[in-house]
This record gives sequence, C-alpha cells and structure tokens, in this order.
Amino acid sequence: MEKLTIGLFGFGVVGEGIYKVLSQKQNLGCTIKKIAIKNPNKNRNAPASLFTNKANDIINDEDINLIVELIDDADAAFNIVCDAMNKGKSVVSANKKMIATHHLKLIELSKKNNVSFLYEAAVCGSVPIIRNLEEYFDNDLLIYIQGIVNGSTNYILSKMKTDNVSYENALSAAKENGFAESDPTLDVEGIDAAYKISIITLHAFGKYIKTKDVIRKGITSLKENDFQYAKEKGFVIKLIAKSILNKNGDLINISVLPTFIEKDNTLGNTNNEFNGLLIGSSLADEQFLYGKGAGRYPTSSAVLSDISAIKYGYRYEYKKGIKSNTQYSADSVKCYISFNREIAFDRSVFEKINEEYLCEDKRYIIGHLKPELVKDTQLFEDKRISLICFN
Ligand code: HSE
Repeated sequence: MEKLTIGLFGFGVVGEGIYKVLSQKQNLGCTIKKIAIKNPNKNRNAPASLFTNKANDIINDEDINLIVELIDDADAAFNIVCDAMNKGKSVVSANKKMIATHHLKLIELSKKNNVSFLYEAAVCGSVPIIRNLEEYFDNDLLIYIQGIVNGSTNYILSKMKTDNVSYENALSAAKENGFAESDPTLDVEGIDAAYKISIITLHAFGKYIKTKDVIRKGITSLKENDFQYAKEKGFVIKLIAKSILNKNGDLINISVLPTFIEKDNTLGNTNNEFNGLLIGSSLADEQFLYGKGAGRYPTSSAVLSDISAIKYGYRYEYKKGIKSNTQYSADSVKCYISFNREIAFDRSVFEKINEEYLCEDKRYIIGHLKPELVKDTQLFEDKRISLICFN
C-alpha cells in the first residue's frame, strides 16, 4: 500500500502514544484521519476535529484503509474488526482476548476479504514473537515454547522477591505503571497469559486451543512459605506459560502455572515487566527472545512495527496450518503443593509422591500429578492451595 490512512479505535495509553509518533513522523506516509473514543466530553491531547464516538464514521469512510484497534472491550473490538475487514480494511490489533477467543473466525475473515490482520502487540509487548514464529521458524521443527508472557505478574513477583514489597503494593505499582489490565484479575489469575499462549501455539504449531482448555493457575494462592521454600532451594517463582509437543508432534502441555525456576538461568533472570520466551527446536536447540512485555512505549513499538509491515503488504500466512478444536492428552506434571493443616488434602491426585513435609504450620507434598487430573483438577481453582510446578 502506498499510503496508509488510519482510523484509530481507542485513545488510551497506547493509542495516544501511536498518535504522537505518527504525527511527528510525517515521513512514514501514515496519517490518522479519525479517532473513535467512547467518551466525547473528555479533554484530549489532539485536535477535537479528529474524534468521533461513532464507529461507523470510521468503518464507512472509504479513504480509511487501515484500522488500528486499541480498545479494552473485546466484544466491541470483535464487531469493529469484523466490520472493518468486511469493508476491505486491514487491521492492526492489540486485543489478546478478542484474538484468542475468535482467532479462527478472524483469520477466515481476513482471508476472505484479502486484507492483513496483524497483532504482534497482543503478545509479549515489544518482543517480536509472532513474526519470528511465522517467518524465521517456518522450516525449523519447533518442539516447545515456554516463558514469561505477562509483564504485570512478573513485575509483582520480582518486587516481592528483591524489594520485599507486599503483593498488594506491587500490584498497585503495576497498575500505576500501566502494565496491568484494567481488570487486573486477568493478569494475576493467569488469564491474560492463557490468551497469549493460545495465540502463540497457533503460530508455533498450527494448533488452536481455546483459552478455557489451557491448564491454568495464577499467582494469587502463593504464600510466604512458598517463597521461603523457593529461596532455600535456590529457585525463584515465575508464572510460566508453556506449549509443548511430544516426539509425534502431539501437544502434551499447554499451561500457565507458577513454576520454580533456577534463579541464575535465563528465565530466572527475566525480571520486572520484562518478558522472555525460550523457543525449543530440533535443529537450533534453544533460543531466547527477551524484551519489555508491557507498558506504553514497548506496546506502541509493536503496533508501529505492524503498521509499517502493512505498508509493504505483509500478512501472516499460518504456514504450519490451522488445526481447530485440537484435543490433547496432558502429560503428568511434577509439582509442589502446599496447604494449611486444616485442609483435608486428597493425596490421591498424585500418581507418585517424592517428598512430603508436615509440621505444625506448614505442609507440602512434592509429586507427579495423575495425567488424567492435570487438565481438570480442582486444585488449580482452589485458592487455599498453592501449586507450583518444577520446570
Ligand atoms: N497486562 C499485560 C501484561 C499487558 O502485564 O503483560 C501487556 O499485554
């Protein structure tokens, strides 16, 4: 495309950042023609004539050939993106919930309408994971992707460990810094990370797994004793997202779980709002992508990169295929489970117990969960029980 005329949806932290950069860099050949916002009465740092609160002012504008969608509401975003693609407009989006929920439908629409639909900013902020999986790792045989994909929880866990900050204060700081979602439950319960690992899994392995089928536990059940245990053993606790294939190419694990990581290894040293992804492949062995995963400028950098990719007509090709409704059998997971003495803990969830420690105020069991329970065990939902995996 020679010239991009953009309709921007959302003027929050990232939307305003994009507006500023594009107004300063006229040489990029991209102009923002209209900005759709929800509240027309708010004062904003841009000419009032740019703003509208009617989505159709943008959707029906034939000059506009690119929609940049940066709003919070995933349902509204889905309608906007579908309407835009049906009108022949390309789309850049950062909306991981919308993408993870409607991934196949959105891909189908972009193909049907012959438009680009790019979303690097939806996964790991500034880290270019999607484009690398699409292009660079196209022919390599990928085996696993694992890493830290949520900046807020990594920031919270890092601050709790190194600066002895309480969970509540660390979460407040993550909100103030613009890392957390407007509903931070999505971060701390691992839901945001589950959206991201679902999107990554499609680009890495050509398999679409719904977010509800990602094995998931967030960081809200972790207790002081767990951090103490980690310290004694030379570990740090990280919220790790994983997607792993076995040697037959079948998915055996897609999860977001608190995990013990050796404190000196690559992921152990990925702190604060940084994200880090290990990419395992049969030829290249292991590679690491690292960068800021949250915040105004890191996220804006990924949106800008997508905008400029659209200028030269770039599209994801999904070369590894798109297999929907993928059923998978989970492998056993080795984990540490801690709980208070009042809890009548059902030890039969383990197929094998390696270690058990019971004293007055603290109890933990280390063992392998039964594979058939890994995908639907209530342990993941029970807030009174800490569950931390071994890597
Ligand atoms: N809340 C998200 C995070 C923002 O903390 O990673 C970036 O996707």
